[in-house]
Amino acid sequence: MNERETWATRAGFILAAVGSAVGLGNIWQFPFKTAQFGGASFLIVYVIAALGIGLPAILAEFVIGRRSNLNTISAFEKLGHKNWRFVGALGLFTGFWILSYYSVVGGWVLRYIGGSLTGAYFGAPAEYFGQISAGMDALALHAVFMALVVVIVAAGIEDGIEKATKLMVPSIIVILGALAIFAFTLPGASEGYAYFLSPDFDALFANLGDIVPFAVGQAFFSLSLGMGAMITYASYIDGDQSLFGDGITIVFLNSFVGILAGLVVLPLLFAQGIDPNTSGAGAVFISVAGAFANIPGGQAIGLIFFLVVLIAALSSAISLLEVVVSWAIDNYDVTRPQMAILLGGVIFLLGVPSALDTAWLGWFDTLAYKFFLPVGVLGILIFVAWVYGAPALDEVMKGSGLGEGVGLTWLWLARTLVIVAVVATLVLGFQTLFLGESPAIIPPI
Ligand code: PHE
Repeated sequence: MNERETWATRAGFILAAVGSAVGLGNIWQFPFKTAQFGGASFLIVYVIAALGIGLPAILAEFVIGRRSNLNTISAFEKLGHKNWRFVGALGLFTGFWILSYYSVVGGWVLRYIGGSLTGAYFGAPAEYFGQISAGMDALALHAVFMALVVVIVAAGIEDGIEKATKLMVPSIIVILGALAIFAFTLPGASEGYAYFLSPDFDALFANLGDIVPFAVGQAFFSLSLGMGAMITYASYIDGDQSLFGDGITIVFLNSFVGILAGLVVLPLLFAQGIDPNTSGAGAVFISVAGAFANIPGGQAIGLIFFLVVLIAALSSAISLLEVVVSWAIDNYDVTRPQMAILLGGVIFLLGVPSALDTAWLGWFDTLAYKFFLPVGVLGILIFVAWVYGAPALDEVMKGSGLGEGVGLTWLWLARTLVIVAVVATLVLGFQTLFLGESPAIIPPI
């Protein structure tokens, strides 16, 4: 069996986890949904969902990971609850599932980096997207994106993931910040801010039944919860740092990047008079890309923008591959590079349908965020809060420096409100999945 690695520093773990959280979800889903669902008033709902539901859930994953120092499946055995391995196994499966199409979208981003250099999408953004999003080109770039993910994961925890994300996460924040300043200088920017952030309580209350489950689901997807990514990353923690402190930092930075992304894309769209009332792939690859065609220096700005999207997508994708690689090397006498290549190859194959037809991609995505992730979160919460119980409380307190009351609040929140919220999200998700509302062709990631 291989010697198990650890993070070199606490900051290394936090940045890797932020890298996992900050991804495509923050850049194209979050800003548009915020605007559509009531601006600042939606932000309040989202922050409550992220802190009240996402934070207790992320802590539950940290507890399993740090307590066991093992991958998502073996962790349950080590904690003395072999029968709960199915939760870990579901997580592993979800990791395969999500990465297969996430990588296809990563391929599109690579394509747009090239397209910015040559100005290829400037003339007819919608047609361009139609041409490159499915088919042999998409397949080839899906392979290139997967190869990049494999290279980082193969290099290991400290030398691969930690070093990469230490560079990537600050770059995402700095570059998005610079783009936000640039967007501020564009004429019409203030209308973009008004659309993004003005509170609209009427819109919020009129659609509360849709908005709350969306906010909760978005918090899970965006915080990479429900498929073992945070369990796996926490399993490489060496020592007793405050899990509360780490969790709050991650939730805060993740929301911050979403807001920053909104401060970039919405002024850009308004400056060009482009209707921002779309979300998903169309918003970024058609509307935002279209805006670059007309602004001064658009080619360079487009290049920088898609570079930042690529970095965000890569730092999330590596956490998805790490979940499965970690399981393989904990259990079999194989090397990390061998497994990264082999499992990366399997995931590439699973992504072939999504690369050939965006309808498949939309279907994979819908199933992941409406079904697999919430079910995974539910399993983890029931296990940690009800089945594991007292040792979980002990683990979450270790190194926190907080009073027992905080831990108990966490445990009881997880046992009650959080579980109820997850079940409600699942039920509502099911309704829209099977009774009406056709799954969006434009993937909601
Ligand atoms: N959190 C990532 C995003 O916002 C996606 C992701 C989901 C990554 C689940 C890992 C696990 O894009």
